[in-house]
Amino acid sequence: MLVIHLSGLLLILPACIQAARILAVFPFPGPSQYINVVPYLKTLASRGHQVTSINAFPQKKPLENFRDIPIPEVFDNYNEIINELNDPMNIWQENNFINKFFVDITRSVLTNKEVTETLLPPGKDQYDLIIVEALRSDAYYGFAAHFNAPIIGISTFGTDWNIDELVGNVSPLSYTPLVTAGFTDRMTFGERVSNFVDTTVAWLNYRLVHMPEQERLYEKYFPIASKRVRLTDLNRNFSLVLLNQHFSLSFPRAYVPNMIQVGGLHISHKPAALPKDLEEFIQGSGEEGVIYFSLGSNVKSKDLPAERRQLMLKTFASLPQRVLWKFEDDQLPGKPANVFISKWFPQPDILAHPKVKLFITHGGLLSTIESIHHGKPVLGLPFFYDQFLNVKRAKQAGFGLGLDHKTMTQQEFKGTIERLVKEPQFAETARQMSDRYRDQPMTPLDTAIWWTEYVLRHKGAYHMRVAGQDLGFFAYHSLDVLGALLGGALLILTISLVILWKIAGFGNSKKKQKKQ
Ligand SMILES: *[C@@H]1O[C@H](CO)[C@@H](O)[C@H](O)[C@H]1NC(C)=O
Repeated sequence: MLVIHLSGLLLILPACIQAARILAVFPFPGPSQYINVVPYLKTLASRGHQVTSINAFPQKKPLENFRDIPIPEVFDNYNEIINELNDPMNIWQENNFINKFFVDITRSVLTNKEVTETLLPPGKDQYDLIIVEALRSDAYYGFAAHFNAPIIGISTFGTDWNIDELVGNVSPLSYTPLVTAGFTDRMTFGERVSNFVDTTVAWLNYRLVHMPEQERLYEKYFPIASKRVRLTDLNRNFSLVLLNQHFSLSFPRAYVPNMIQVGGLHISHKPAALPKDLEEFIQGSGEEGVIYFSLGSNVKSKDLPAERRQLMLKTFASLPQRVLWKFEDDQLPGKPANVFISKWFPQPDILAHPKVKLFITHGGLLSTIESIHHGKPVLGLPFFYDQFLNVKRAKQAGFGLGLDHKTMTQQEFKGTIERLVKEPQFAETARQMSDRYRDQPMTPLDTAIWWTEYVLRHKGAYHMRVAGQDLGFFAYHSLDVLGALLGGALLILTISLVILWKIAGFGNSKKKQKKQ
Protein backbone atom coordinates (compact mmCIF):
# COMPACT_ATOMS: atom_id res chain seq x y z
CA MET A 1 0.00 0.00 0.00
CA LEU A 2 1.13 3.49 -0.80
CA VAL A 3 0.27 6.34 1.50
CA ILE A 4 -0.25 9.58 -0.32
CA HIS A 5 -1.25 13.08 0.52
CA LEU A 6 -4.24 14.21 -1.48
CA SER A 7 -6.46 17.15 -0.86
CA GLY A 8 -4.87 17.80 2.52
CA LEU A 9 -6.15 14.51 3.92
CA LEU A 10 -4.02 11.49 4.66
CA LEU A 11 -5.53 8.76 2.57
CA ILE A 12 -4.57 5.27 1.67
CA LEU A 13 -5.09 4.22 -1.91
CA PRO A 14 -3.74 0.90 -3.14
CA ALA A 15 -0.36 1.34 -4.78
CA CYS A 16 -0.71 2.22 -8.39
CA ILE A 17 -0.47 -1.02 -10.34
CA GLN A 18 1.57 -1.10 -13.47
CA ALA A 19 1.43 2.32 -15.01
CA ALA A 20 -1.19 2.44 -17.74
CA ARG A 21 -1.30 4.34 -21.00
CA ILE A 22 -4.48 6.38 -20.82
CA LEU A 23 -6.24 8.22 -23.65
CA ALA A 24 -8.62 10.95 -22.44
CA VAL A 25 -11.09 12.59 -24.85
CA PHE A 26 -12.60 15.83 -23.50
CA PRO A 27 -13.14 18.08 -26.52
CA PHE A 28 -16.08 20.14 -25.22
CA PRO A 29 -15.33 23.84 -25.85
CA GLY A 30 -16.93 25.20 -22.65
CA PRO A 31 -14.10 25.63 -20.13
CA SER A 32 -15.98 24.44 -17.05
CA GLN A 33 -16.32 20.86 -18.39
CA TYR A 34 -12.56 20.55 -18.66
CA ILE A 35 -11.92 22.41 -15.38
CA ASN A 36 -14.03 19.69 -13.81
CA VAL A 37 -11.84 16.79 -14.98
CA VAL A 38 -8.35 18.24 -15.28
CA PRO A 39 -7.40 17.67 -11.60
CA TYR A 40 -8.42 14.03 -12.06
CA LEU A 41 -6.31 13.61 -15.23
CA LYS A 42 -3.34 15.34 -13.61
CA THR A 43 -3.61 13.11 -10.53
CA LEU A 44 -3.58 10.05 -12.78
CA ALA A 45 -0.41 11.41 -14.40
CA SER A 46 1.15 12.08 -11.00
CA ARG A 47 0.49 8.45 -10.06
CA GLY A 48 2.69 7.29 -12.89
CA HIS A 49 0.17 6.76 -15.68
CA GLN A 50 0.94 8.13 -19.14
CA VAL A 51 -1.97 10.42 -19.97
CA THR A 52 -2.76 11.68 -23.47
CA SER A 53 -5.55 14.24 -23.38
CA ILE A 54 -7.50 15.43 -26.42
CA ASN A 55 -8.92 18.77 -25.27
CA ALA A 56 -9.54 22.41 -26.14
CA PHE A 57 -7.61 23.91 -23.20
CA PRO A 58 -4.02 22.59 -23.35
CA GLN A 59 -1.68 23.07 -20.37
CA LYS A 60 0.34 26.27 -20.40
CA LYS A 61 3.39 24.54 -18.93
CA PRO A 62 4.50 21.03 -19.86
CA LEU A 63 3.55 18.43 -17.29
CA GLU A 64 5.26 15.12 -16.60
CA ASN A 65 3.44 12.05 -18.02
CA PHE A 66 0.92 14.36 -19.69
CA ARG A 67 0.57 14.92 -23.43
CA ASP A 68 -1.96 17.37 -24.81
CA ILE A 69 -3.59 16.96 -28.20
CA PRO A 70 -5.13 20.43 -28.63
CA ILE A 71 -8.34 20.58 -30.61
CA PRO A 72 -8.94 24.27 -31.40
CA GLU A 73 -11.36 23.32 -34.23
CA VAL A 74 -14.15 23.02 -31.66
CA PHE A 75 -14.13 26.80 -31.15
CA ASP A 76 -15.23 27.46 -34.75
CA ASN A 77 -18.65 29.07 -34.40
CA TYR A 78 -18.81 28.42 -30.64
CA ASN A 79 -19.95 31.95 -29.79
CA GLU A 80 -22.64 31.93 -32.47
CA ILE A 81 -23.83 28.60 -31.11
CA ILE A 82 -24.09 29.95 -27.56
CA ASN A 83 -26.03 32.96 -28.86
CA GLU A 84 -28.28 30.81 -31.04
CA LEU A 85 -29.32 28.98 -27.88
CA ASN A 86 -31.36 32.06 -26.98
CA ASP A 87 -33.45 31.81 -30.17
CA PRO A 88 -36.91 30.32 -29.72
CA MET A 89 -37.00 26.64 -30.72
CA ASN A 90 -39.47 23.80 -30.31
CA ILE A 91 -38.21 20.71 -28.53
CA TRP A 92 -37.46 18.74 -31.69
CA GLN A 93 -35.37 21.65 -33.04
CA GLU A 94 -33.70 22.04 -29.66
CA ASN A 95 -32.65 18.39 -29.67
CA ASN A 96 -31.51 18.64 -33.26
CA PHE A 97 -29.43 21.64 -32.35
CA ILE A 98 -27.75 20.00 -29.35
CA ASN A 99 -27.16 16.67 -31.10
CA LYS A 100 -25.73 18.33 -34.20
CA PHE A 101 -23.40 20.33 -31.96
CA PHE A 102 -22.04 17.07 -30.54
CA VAL A 103 -21.78 15.42 -33.95
CA ASP A 104 -19.66 18.41 -35.06
CA ILE A 105 -17.42 18.10 -32.00
CA THR A 106 -17.04 14.36 -32.59
CA ARG A 107 -16.07 15.02 -36.20
CA SER A 108 -13.54 17.66 -35.09
CA VAL A 109 -11.86 15.05 -32.89
CA LEU A 110 -11.72 12.37 -35.58
CA THR A 111 -10.45 14.73 -38.29
CA ASN A 112 -7.85 16.51 -36.15
CA LYS A 113 -4.40 16.25 -37.73
CA GLU A 114 -2.57 14.87 -34.71
CA VAL A 115 -5.36 12.37 -34.05
CA THR A 116 -5.39 11.12 -37.63
CA GLU A 117 -1.60 10.89 -37.73
CA THR A 118 -0.80 9.34 -34.37
CA LEU A 119 -3.92 7.64 -33.00
CA LEU A 120 -5.97 6.32 -35.91
CA PRO A 121 -3.40 4.45 -38.05
CA PRO A 122 -3.26 0.83 -36.84
CA GLY A 123 -0.12 -0.11 -34.96
CA LYS A 124 0.85 3.44 -33.95
CA ASP A 125 0.18 4.58 -30.34
CA GLN A 126 -1.18 2.00 -27.90
CA TYR A 127 -3.51 2.58 -24.95
CA ASP A 128 -4.68 0.48 -22.00
CA LEU A 129 -7.63 2.62 -20.98
CA ILE A 130 -9.89 5.16 -22.68
CA ILE A 131 -11.60 7.89 -20.65
CA VAL A 132 -14.19 9.99 -22.49
CA GLU A 133 -16.60 12.79 -21.95
CA ALA A 134 -19.84 10.83 -22.27
CA LEU A 135 -21.93 13.34 -24.17
CA ARG A 136 -23.78 11.94 -27.19
CA SER A 137 -20.48 11.46 -29.01
CA ASP A 138 -20.68 7.74 -29.70
CA ALA A 139 -18.31 7.70 -32.67
CA TYR A 140 -15.25 8.55 -30.59
CA TYR A 141 -16.10 5.79 -28.12
CA GLY A 142 -14.65 3.80 -31.04
CA PHE A 143 -11.18 4.39 -29.55
CA ALA A 144 -12.08 1.58 -27.11
CA ALA A 145 -12.59 -0.91 -29.94
CA HIS A 146 -9.64 0.50 -31.88
CA PHE A 147 -7.20 0.02 -28.97
CA ASN A 148 -9.03 -2.98 -27.54
CA ALA A 149 -9.13 -1.21 -24.18
CA PRO A 150 -11.81 -0.73 -21.51
CA ILE A 151 -13.65 2.57 -21.58
CA ILE A 152 -14.72 4.91 -18.77
CA GLY A 153 -17.20 7.76 -19.26
CA ILE A 154 -17.35 10.96 -17.27
CA SER A 155 -20.38 13.20 -17.19
CA THR A 156 -20.00 16.67 -15.77
CA PHE A 157 -23.71 17.11 -14.97
CA GLY A 158 -24.93 13.75 -13.65
CA THR A 159 -26.73 11.12 -15.67
CA ASP A 160 -29.49 11.23 -18.30
CA TRP A 161 -31.19 8.64 -20.54
CA ASN A 162 -28.22 8.67 -22.95
CA ILE A 163 -25.55 8.18 -20.28
CA ASP A 164 -27.72 5.56 -18.52
CA GLU A 165 -27.58 3.39 -21.64
CA LEU A 166 -23.78 3.10 -21.43
CA VAL A 167 -24.02 0.97 -18.28
CA GLY A 168 -27.70 -0.01 -18.20
CA ASN A 169 -28.70 2.38 -15.44
CA VAL A 170 -32.38 3.15 -14.95
CA SER A 171 -33.81 6.59 -14.18
CA PRO A 172 -37.55 6.33 -13.53
CA LEU A 173 -39.14 9.24 -15.36
CA SER A 174 -41.60 9.69 -12.51
CA TYR A 175 -38.98 11.18 -10.22
CA THR A 176 -35.89 11.82 -12.38
CA PRO A 177 -36.39 14.98 -14.41
CA LEU A 178 -34.57 15.56 -17.66
CA VAL A 179 -31.53 17.72 -16.93
CA THR A 180 -32.82 20.48 -19.20
CA ALA A 181 -36.41 20.46 -17.94
CA GLY A 182 -35.88 22.65 -14.88
CA PHE A 183 -37.95 20.31 -12.65
CA THR A 184 -36.98 18.76 -9.33
CA ASP A 185 -37.47 15.15 -8.22
CA ARG A 186 -40.94 16.04 -6.92
CA MET A 187 -43.01 16.71 -10.02
CA THR A 188 -46.69 17.51 -10.46
CA PHE A 189 -48.72 15.35 -12.84
CA GLY A 190 -48.35 18.00 -15.56
CA GLU A 191 -44.59 18.12 -15.06
CA ARG A 192 -44.39 14.33 -15.23
CA VAL A 193 -46.28 14.37 -18.53
CA SER A 194 -43.92 17.01 -19.87
CA ASN A 195 -40.88 15.08 -18.60
CA PHE A 196 -42.12 11.90 -20.27
CA VAL A 197 -42.79 13.61 -23.60
CA ASP A 198 -39.51 15.56 -23.60
CA THR A 199 -37.46 12.47 -22.81
CA THR A 200 -39.18 10.46 -25.53
CA VAL A 201 -38.57 13.21 -28.08
CA ALA A 202 -34.91 13.48 -27.04
CA TRP A 203 -34.50 9.71 -27.36
CA LEU A 204 -36.22 9.56 -30.75
CA ASN A 205 -34.25 12.51 -32.11
CA TYR A 206 -30.95 10.91 -31.17
CA ARG A 207 -31.93 7.44 -32.36
CA LEU A 208 -33.43 8.49 -35.67
CA VAL A 209 -31.36 11.49 -36.73
CA HIS A 210 -28.01 11.61 -34.99
CA MET A 211 -27.03 8.07 -34.03
CA PRO A 212 -26.91 7.12 -37.77
CA GLU A 213 -24.54 10.06 -38.29
CA GLN A 214 -22.36 8.85 -35.37
CA GLU A 215 -22.34 5.36 -36.88
CA ARG A 216 -21.18 6.74 -40.23
CA LEU A 217 -18.33 8.57 -38.49
CA TYR A 218 -17.40 5.44 -36.55
CA GLU A 219 -17.27 3.31 -39.69
CA LYS A 220 -15.33 5.95 -41.60
CA TYR A 221 -12.62 6.65 -39.04
CA PHE A 222 -12.36 3.19 -37.44
CA PRO A 223 -12.70 1.00 -40.54
CA ILE A 224 -11.08 -2.08 -38.99
CA ALA A 225 -12.53 -1.90 -35.46
CA SER A 226 -16.03 -1.18 -36.77
CA LYS A 227 -16.02 -4.46 -38.70
CA ARG A 228 -15.26 -6.29 -35.45
CA VAL A 229 -17.45 -4.42 -32.94
CA ARG A 230 -20.76 -2.74 -33.68
CA LEU A 231 -21.15 0.74 -32.24
CA THR A 232 -24.39 -0.28 -30.54
CA ASP A 233 -22.50 -3.04 -28.67
CA LEU A 234 -19.62 -0.76 -27.83
CA ASN A 235 -21.79 1.95 -26.32
CA ARG A 236 -23.42 -0.55 -23.98
CA ASN A 237 -20.08 -1.84 -22.75
CA PHE A 238 -18.66 0.94 -20.58
CA SER A 239 -16.63 -0.33 -17.64
CA LEU A 240 -17.48 2.65 -15.49
CA VAL A 241 -19.28 5.98 -15.57
CA LEU A 242 -18.22 8.72 -13.16
CA LEU A 243 -20.84 11.38 -12.45
CA ASN A 244 -20.16 14.88 -11.28
CA GLN A 245 -23.12 14.59 -8.94
CA HIS A 246 -23.89 13.49 -5.37
CA PHE A 247 -27.13 12.85 -3.50
CA SER A 248 -26.27 15.58 -1.01
CA LEU A 249 -26.12 18.04 -3.93
CA SER A 250 -29.26 16.92 -5.74
CA PHE A 251 -31.59 14.13 -4.62
CA PRO A 252 -31.35 10.48 -3.59
CA ARG A 253 -31.73 7.92 -6.38
CA ALA A 254 -30.48 4.49 -7.49
CA TYR A 255 -27.39 3.73 -9.58
CA VAL A 256 -25.97 0.49 -11.01
CA PRO A 257 -22.66 -0.56 -9.36
CA ASN A 258 -20.46 0.83 -12.14
CA MET A 259 -21.99 4.28 -12.00
CA ILE A 260 -20.21 6.26 -9.30
CA GLN A 261 -20.93 9.71 -7.87
CA VAL A 262 -17.90 11.99 -7.71
CA GLY A 263 -19.65 15.36 -7.49
CA GLY A 264 -17.17 18.19 -7.01
CA LEU A 265 -14.28 16.28 -8.59
CA HIS A 266 -12.58 19.59 -9.33
CA ILE A 267 -12.67 21.09 -5.85
CA SER A 268 -9.25 21.42 -4.33
CA HIS A 269 -9.48 21.65 -0.58
CA LYS A 270 -6.34 23.71 -0.19
CA PRO A 271 -7.40 27.29 0.52
CA ALA A 272 -4.89 29.88 -0.67
CA ALA A 273 -4.51 33.47 0.50
CA LEU A 274 -6.28 36.02 -1.69
CA PRO A 275 -4.34 38.66 -3.64
CA LYS A 276 -3.62 41.66 -1.41
CA ASP A 277 -5.92 44.21 -3.10
CA LEU A 278 -8.80 41.77 -3.01
CA GLU A 279 -8.26 40.85 0.63
CA GLU A 280 -8.15 44.55 1.57
CA PHE A 281 -11.33 45.29 -0.35
CA ILE A 282 -13.09 42.40 1.39
CA GLN A 283 -11.82 43.35 4.84
CA GLY A 284 -12.96 46.94 4.24
CA SER A 285 -16.58 45.79 4.04
CA GLY A 286 -16.81 45.75 7.84
CA GLU A 287 -19.82 44.02 9.41
CA GLU A 288 -21.89 44.10 6.21
CA GLY A 289 -19.73 41.68 4.29
CA VAL A 290 -19.32 41.01 0.60
CA ILE A 291 -21.45 39.71 -2.28
CA TYR A 292 -19.70 37.78 -5.04
CA PHE A 293 -21.22 38.02 -8.53
CA SER A 294 -20.09 35.84 -11.44
CA LEU A 295 -21.94 34.49 -14.46
CA GLY A 296 -19.33 31.79 -15.09
CA SER A 297 -17.05 31.33 -18.06
CA ASN A 298 -19.55 31.10 -20.96
CA VAL A 299 -21.82 34.06 -20.32
CA LYS A 300 -19.98 37.37 -20.37
CA SER A 301 -21.28 40.10 -18.06
CA LYS A 302 -20.01 42.65 -20.55
CA ASP A 303 -22.37 41.22 -23.18
CA LEU A 304 -25.45 41.76 -21.00
CA PRO A 305 -27.83 44.36 -22.50
CA ALA A 306 -26.83 47.86 -21.34
CA GLU A 307 -30.15 48.35 -19.61
CA ARG A 308 -29.72 45.12 -17.56
CA ARG A 309 -26.22 46.14 -16.59
CA GLN A 310 -27.49 49.52 -15.49
CA LEU A 311 -30.15 47.89 -13.35
CA MET A 312 -27.54 45.72 -11.66
CA LEU A 313 -25.16 48.64 -11.10
CA LYS A 314 -27.90 50.76 -9.54
CA THR A 315 -28.91 47.90 -7.29
CA PHE A 316 -25.35 47.24 -6.17
CA ALA A 317 -24.79 50.97 -5.53
CA SER A 318 -27.76 51.00 -3.17
CA LEU A 319 -26.50 48.07 -1.05
CA PRO A 320 -24.55 48.42 2.21
CA GLN A 321 -22.41 45.39 1.23
CA ARG A 322 -19.41 45.46 -1.05
CA VAL A 323 -19.66 43.59 -4.36
CA LEU A 324 -17.08 41.59 -6.32
CA TRP A 325 -18.17 41.40 -9.97
CA LYS A 326 -16.48 39.11 -12.48
CA PHE A 327 -16.52 41.51 -15.40
CA GLU A 328 -14.57 40.87 -18.59
CA ASP A 329 -13.68 44.46 -19.48
CA ASP A 330 -11.18 46.84 -17.89
CA GLN A 331 -13.76 49.60 -17.77
CA LEU A 332 -17.23 49.57 -16.27
CA PRO A 333 -18.66 53.08 -16.79
CA GLY A 334 -20.55 54.34 -13.75
CA LYS A 335 -19.03 51.71 -11.44
CA PRO A 336 -19.93 52.62 -7.83
CA ALA A 337 -17.22 52.69 -5.14
CA ASN A 338 -18.52 49.57 -3.40
CA VAL A 339 -18.03 47.43 -6.54
CA PHE A 340 -14.73 45.72 -7.42
CA ILE A 341 -14.41 44.37 -10.95
CA SER A 342 -11.97 41.82 -12.27
CA LYS A 343 -11.79 39.55 -15.32
CA TRP A 344 -10.94 36.64 -13.10
CA PHE A 345 -11.41 35.78 -9.44
CA PRO A 346 -10.02 32.83 -7.45
CA GLN A 347 -13.61 31.68 -6.99
CA PRO A 348 -13.11 28.86 -4.45
CA ASP A 349 -10.96 31.03 -2.19
CA ILE A 350 -13.50 33.84 -2.36
CA LEU A 351 -16.36 31.50 -1.52
CA ALA A 352 -14.30 30.14 1.38
CA HIS A 353 -13.91 33.65 2.83
CA PRO A 354 -16.01 34.17 5.98
CA LYS A 355 -16.96 37.72 4.98
CA VAL A 356 -18.56 36.57 1.73
CA LYS A 357 -22.30 36.39 2.45
CA LEU A 358 -23.87 35.62 -0.90
CA PHE A 359 -23.01 34.24 -4.34
CA ILE A 360 -24.96 35.66 -7.29
CA THR A 361 -24.45 33.01 -9.97
CA HIS A 362 -25.65 31.74 -13.35
CA GLY A 363 -26.25 28.45 -11.55
CA GLY A 364 -23.77 26.27 -13.46
CA LEU A 365 -23.22 22.94 -11.74
CA LEU A 366 -19.57 23.59 -10.81
CA SER A 367 -20.43 26.95 -9.26
CA THR A 368 -23.40 25.45 -7.45
CA ILE A 369 -21.27 22.63 -6.04
CA GLU A 370 -18.60 25.12 -4.97
CA SER A 371 -21.14 27.25 -3.15
CA ILE A 372 -22.48 24.18 -1.34
CA HIS A 373 -18.97 23.04 -0.49
CA HIS A 374 -18.25 26.42 1.07
CA GLY A 375 -21.73 26.75 2.61
CA LYS A 376 -22.76 30.00 0.88
CA PRO A 377 -26.35 30.92 -0.11
CA VAL A 378 -26.96 31.62 -3.79
CA LEU A 379 -29.04 33.93 -5.92
CA GLY A 380 -29.41 32.13 -9.26
CA LEU A 381 -29.79 33.97 -12.58
CA PRO A 382 -29.88 30.96 -14.94
CA PHE A 383 -29.16 31.26 -18.70
CA PHE A 384 -29.28 27.75 -20.19
CA TYR A 385 -29.01 23.97 -20.03
CA ASP A 386 -28.95 22.55 -16.50
CA GLN A 387 -28.75 25.99 -14.86
CA PHE A 388 -32.52 26.29 -14.39
CA LEU A 389 -32.55 22.90 -12.69
CA ASN A 390 -29.64 23.78 -10.40
CA VAL A 391 -31.29 27.03 -9.33
CA LYS A 392 -34.59 25.29 -8.74
CA ARG A 393 -32.84 22.71 -6.58
CA ALA A 394 -31.15 25.43 -4.55
CA LYS A 395 -34.58 26.92 -3.95
CA GLN A 396 -36.10 23.55 -3.08
CA ALA A 397 -33.25 22.76 -0.69
CA GLY A 398 -33.63 26.20 0.90
CA PHE A 399 -30.18 27.71 0.41
CA GLY A 400 -31.04 29.93 -2.54
CA LEU A 401 -33.52 31.90 -4.60
CA GLY A 402 -33.78 32.46 -8.34
CA LEU A 403 -34.75 35.34 -10.63
CA ASP A 404 -35.22 35.74 -14.37
CA HIS A 405 -32.38 38.04 -15.40
CA LYS A 406 -34.30 39.12 -18.50
CA THR A 407 -37.41 40.41 -16.73
CA MET A 408 -36.49 41.13 -13.10
CA THR A 409 -37.02 44.68 -11.81
CA GLN A 410 -34.58 46.61 -9.66
CA GLN A 411 -36.87 46.19 -6.64
CA GLU A 412 -37.05 42.43 -7.15
CA PHE A 413 -33.29 42.13 -7.53
CA LYS A 414 -32.60 44.23 -4.45
CA GLY A 415 -35.38 42.62 -2.39
CA THR A 416 -34.11 39.10 -3.18
CA ILE A 417 -30.53 40.01 -2.30
CA GLU A 418 -31.71 41.52 0.99
CA ARG A 419 -33.76 38.44 1.88
CA LEU A 420 -30.84 36.11 1.20
CA VAL A 421 -28.43 38.18 3.26
CA LYS A 422 -30.76 39.04 6.13
CA GLU A 423 -32.92 35.96 6.71
CA PRO A 424 -30.71 33.53 8.62
CA GLN A 425 -32.30 30.31 7.36
CA PHE A 426 -30.58 30.60 3.96
CA ALA A 427 -27.08 30.71 5.44
CA GLU A 428 -27.99 27.98 7.95
CA THR A 429 -29.28 25.65 5.23
CA ALA A 430 -26.20 26.34 3.13
CA ARG A 431 -23.99 25.37 6.08
CA GLN A 432 -26.01 22.21 6.66
CA MET A 433 -25.73 21.26 2.96
CA SER A 434 -21.99 21.82 3.21
CA ASP A 435 -21.71 19.52 6.25
CA ARG A 436 -23.62 16.76 4.47
CA TYR A 437 -21.63 17.13 1.28
CA ARG A 438 -18.26 17.05 3.03
CA ASP A 439 -19.15 13.99 5.12
CA GLN A 440 -17.91 11.32 2.68
CA PRO A 441 -15.52 8.39 3.21
CA MET A 442 -13.17 9.64 0.47
CA THR A 443 -12.93 12.91 -1.39
CA PRO A 444 -14.59 12.86 -4.84
CA LEU A 445 -11.16 12.99 -6.49
CA ASP A 446 -9.82 10.02 -4.49
CA THR A 447 -13.03 8.13 -5.24
CA ALA A 448 -12.60 8.74 -8.96
CA ILE A 449 -8.95 7.61 -8.88
CA TRP A 450 -9.84 4.53 -6.86
CA TRP A 451 -12.50 3.34 -9.31
CA THR A 452 -10.41 4.17 -12.35
CA GLU A 453 -7.53 2.03 -11.08
CA TYR A 454 -10.07 -0.61 -10.02
CA VAL A 455 -11.02 -0.91 -13.70
CA LEU A 456 -7.33 -1.28 -14.57
CA ARG A 457 -6.66 -3.82 -11.79
CA HIS A 458 -9.60 -5.96 -12.88
CA LYS A 459 -9.04 -5.75 -16.64
CA GLY A 460 -12.14 -3.74 -17.46
CA ALA A 461 -14.06 -4.86 -14.32
CA TYR A 462 -16.54 -6.60 -16.54
CA HIS A 463 -18.10 -8.24 -13.47
CA MET A 464 -19.77 -4.94 -12.52
CA ARG A 465 -21.76 -4.82 -15.71
CA VAL A 466 -25.49 -5.56 -15.32
CA ALA A 467 -26.87 -8.39 -17.45
CA GLY A 468 -29.58 -6.09 -18.78
CA GLN A 469 -26.97 -4.73 -21.19
CA ASP A 470 -27.15 -7.97 -23.17
CA LEU A 471 -30.93 -8.12 -23.42
CA GLY A 472 -32.98 -6.80 -26.30
CA PHE A 473 -35.66 -4.16 -25.77
CA PHE A 474 -38.53 -6.66 -25.42
CA ALA A 475 -36.75 -9.00 -23.01
CA TYR A 476 -35.35 -6.10 -20.96
CA HIS A 477 -38.81 -4.67 -20.33
CA SER A 478 -40.29 -8.17 -19.85
CA LEU A 479 -42.60 -7.45 -22.78
CA ASP A 480 -41.97 -10.99 -24.06
CA VAL A 481 -42.99 -12.41 -20.68
CA LEU A 482 -46.04 -10.18 -20.51
CA GLY A 483 -46.90 -11.23 -24.04
CA ALA A 484 -46.52 -14.93 -23.18
CA LEU A 485 -48.58 -14.58 -19.99
CA LEU A 486 -51.22 -12.56 -21.74
CA GLY A 487 -51.28 -15.04 -24.61
CA GLY A 488 -51.53 -17.94 -22.11
CA ALA A 489 -54.31 -16.23 -20.23
CA LEU A 490 -56.19 -15.56 -23.46
CA LEU A 491 -55.74 -19.19 -24.48
CA ILE A 492 -57.07 -20.48 -21.15
CA LEU A 493 -59.96 -18.03 -21.35
CA THR A 494 -60.80 -19.15 -24.88
CA ILE A 495 -60.59 -22.85 -23.95
CA SER A 496 -62.77 -22.26 -20.88
CA LEU A 497 -65.31 -20.38 -22.95
CA VAL A 498 -65.37 -23.11 -25.56
CA ILE A 499 -65.84 -25.75 -22.85
CA LEU A 500 -68.57 -23.70 -21.18
CA TRP A 501 -70.25 -23.18 -24.49
CA LYS A 502 -70.04 -26.90 -25.22
CA ILE A 503 -71.50 -27.81 -21.84
CA ALA A 504 -74.20 -25.18 -22.18
CA GLY A 505 -74.79 -26.16 -25.78
CA PHE A 506 -74.88 -29.84 -24.77
CA GLY A 507 -77.41 -29.00 -21.99
CA ASN A 508 -79.51 -27.02 -24.41
CA SER A 509 -79.59 -29.73 -26.95
CA LYS A 510 -80.54 -32.23 -24.21
CA LYS A 511 -83.34 -29.94 -23.07
CA LYS A 512 -84.38 -29.51 -26.66
CA GLN A 513 -84.27 -33.27 -27.08
CA LYS A 514 -86.46 -33.74 -23.96
CA LYS A 515 -89.02 -31.23 -25.21
CA GLN A 516 -89.26 -33.00 -28.47
C1 LIG B 1 -16.63 -5.22 -23.49
O1 LIG B 1 -15.64 -4.93 -22.54
C2 LIG B 1 -14.89 -6.04 -22.10
C3 LIG B 1 -13.97 -5.59 -21.00
O2 LIG B 1 -13.32 -4.40 -21.28
C4 LIG B 1 -14.19 -6.67 -23.28
O3 LIG B 1 -13.50 -7.83 -22.86
C5 LIG B 1 -15.20 -7.02 -24.37
O4 LIG B 1 -14.54 -7.48 -25.51
C6 LIG B 1 -16.03 -5.80 -24.74
N1 LIG B 1 -17.08 -6.17 -25.69
C7 LIG B 1 -17.44 -5.37 -26.70
C8 LIG B 1 -18.55 -5.85 -27.56
O5 LIG B 1 -16.93 -4.29 -26.90
